[in-house]
Amino acid sequence: MLPAALAVLSAFTPLAANAASPVDADQRAKALVQQMTLDEKLKLVFGYFSTDFKGVAKPAQGVPYSAGFVYGIERLGIPHQQLTDAGMGVATQPGPAPRARTALAAGISTAASWNPAVAYAGGAMIGQEARLSGHNVMLAGAANLQREPRNGRNFEYGGEDPLLNGVMAGEQIRGIQSNHVIATVKHFALNNQETGRMKVDAKLDDAAARMSDLLAFQIAIERGNPGSVMCGYNRVNGHYACESDYLLNQVLKRDWAYKGYVMSDWGATHSTIPAALNGLDQQSGWPFDLSPYFKEPLKEAVENGHVPASRLDDMALRILRPMVANGLLEHPVAVAEDKIDFAANAAISQAGAEEGMVLLKNDQQLLPLADRYASIAIIGGHADVGVLSGGGSSQVYPAGGSAVPNEGPASFPGPIVYLPSSPMQALAKRLKAKFVYHDGKDAAAAAKLAASSDLAIVFATQWTAESLDQADLKLPHGQDDTIAAVAAANQRTVVVLETGTPVTMPWLGSVGAVLEAWYPGSAGGEAIARVLTGEVDASGRLPATFPQSEAQLPRPVIDGTGLKEDVRFATDYNIEGAAVGYKWFDKKNLKPLFAFGHGLSYTTFHYEGLQASASNGTISVSFKVANSGAREGKAVPQIYVSKIGAGWEAPKRLGGWDKLALKPGEARSTRVEIDPRTLAVFDSRRGKWKIAAGDYLVTLAEAADAPVTTVKVRLPAREFAAGAR
Ligand code: BGC
Repeated sequence: MLPAALAVLSAFTPLAANAASPVDADQRAKALVQQMTLDEKLKLVFGYFSTDFKGVAKPAQGVPYSAGFVYGIERLGIPHQQLTDAGMGVATQPGPAPRARTALAAGISTAASWNPAVAYAGGAMIGQEARLSGHNVMLAGAANLQREPRNGRNFEYGGEDPLLNGVMAGEQIRGIQSNHVIATVKHFALNNQETGRMKVDAKLDDAAARMSDLLAFQIAIERGNPGSVMCGYNRVNGHYACESDYLLNQVLKRDWAYKGYVMSDWGATHSTIPAALNGLDQQSGWPFDLSPYFKEPLKEAVENGHVPASRLDDMALRILRPMVANGLLEHPVAVAEDKIDFAANAAISQAGAEEGMVLLKNDQQLLPLADRYASIAIIGGHADVGVLSGGGSSQVYPAGGSAVPNEGPASFPGPIVYLPSSPMQALAKRLKAKFVYHDGKDAAAAAKLAASSDLAIVFATQWTAESLDQADLKLPHGQDDTIAAVAAANQRTVVVLETGTPVTMPWLGSVGAVLEAWYPGSAGGEAIARVLTGEVDASGRLPATFPQSEAQLPRPVIDGTGLKEDVRFATDYNIEGAAVGYKWFDKKNLKPLFAFGHGLSYTTFHYEGLQASASNGTISVSFKVANSGAREGKAVPQIYVSKIGAGWEAPKRLGGWDKLALKPGEARSTRVEIDPRTLAVFDSRRGKWKIAAGDYLVTLAEAADAPVTTVKVRLPAREFAAGAR
């Protein structure tokens, strides 16, 4: 299913990748554990914050203003673990002089590219920057499913479909680990809202979980083989995720045979004995917790036999195995900032951002922008100086600081950071028009400028951040009014969205074109200009449904809204079960604003010859795609599968896809293998996936609501283990 990568993406060479084989790693790690004293083992399972915090100084050897530090064991050649966030690049914890690094486009944008090569190349690039920043563990590879469109962290994740989300997270992980840097899939699991994130109990039945949220993690793990898994803040069916026997021991370590280690999120360890026995292997950033649970208390618990010594050995082995396997012992890290090739890395970021932009509407063929306007009004979004990024621990800082200083909250999850890559300047380089900028705050004044311009481009922003959910799906700060006023003043109005989540668009009918650019990263201005002018095709497709209103959601109001900080509450995901996102919309017959998988191209595609056959217990699909338009472009044919006669959580599921670059007139045949788990139902009683015998409908589509052609195929019954496929 790996489509051909863009030249710039495939040209990226990771530092080296001669890691140990799994068998060697296992043996070497076991031999190391055998040589270790009790105190040495305990060192490995206990994490510090690598930033001064709550009166606890960071360890002297820790890379400053970083997320974490774990002592190594010098006499055995085991290096310190130096941990950094996150999925968009090397982040900096709050401090006086953040390190400047390359920011990828948001995770949701990477998912919107539907191109695994984009995720891999991005991972390889940020993994290399992590290494050259002195880090050997990266807290990146976020695979939480977008169950809640208002979740403030959706920008870090890969959308609402478990297959798409899991594949893209897995590829990013593989890319990161190509640098002798461990990647961390997070936040395991059902950590899908920020409202009361430490207090919420997410309720979901086992079968539904395995077919949705857990499936995203399962796919990410089998594809990327991350050294570590970070358990989340929330509780799951009554137990903290970081001491959930179900999640950690049963699902992850038993059923999926995961051999790496589980680290807690910062502040997510709540005990010593239950946590150790239920599967947590490493306490992270301990000053965030109430106690250093995995330090003296764990020693005492092991000495008293409450935690078997063999369990501590297992914890140490699980941490060491991926360290050995990923070559952390042979390839020590050191800060070598001068070796970072920022220009090359910006090109990787830009290529990814371009592929993730989704052209939602283009009715009047306003786009690609023709070079025939004398004047263009650029309104709002600080588009004269930069592009927005998402907030929280994943924040990557640009050289020279934010293009719009002193915006947003002064403390975490602020500040609001604009990366200094101006869409207006990038457009001005490409088009002869006279550009005039207006900040858009006064709708009437913006409309006046639009009325006297040949074309208006409104940049609408929605800052989202860790620890804060959006109250609703509206664009904030009255931007809807500005867009409506501008569109009323000038028929040629283009809207560019820089958002982390879906938004509603009350003005949609009156604008000519809408481009969802997400948070487009370090070279986001260039990427936006290239897509707007058609230097590259608009080839992103939505990885999440855009609802018409909150009323269409399983929970019109987020559970826990308005509760006091310390009040515990539950959110019942059994309402929708595994029918997340488009599956819910299908099941309830709801028409969204824009469907999952939607995205226009500047060319058109023609599909023919759809065939599906049962092979090796799954479905193999083939068809031909032709570029039937006049421009080069990228098709994203999506294969949805349905069980005829029902029995599923929803009418259809995404079973696979491809992304193909085609010249005008070019045609290519392609084959997509359907992930068998998307044909199965999980049987919790037997702990197995079951594909029922019978007829299945295979639909080739351009979006969840845009079927092109269908074919039927008959499958025999098949059963396979929880961790198999
Ligand atoms: C976040 C994690 C992050 C950790 C370390 C937590 O607040 O939830 O995603 O990796 O902090 O910075």
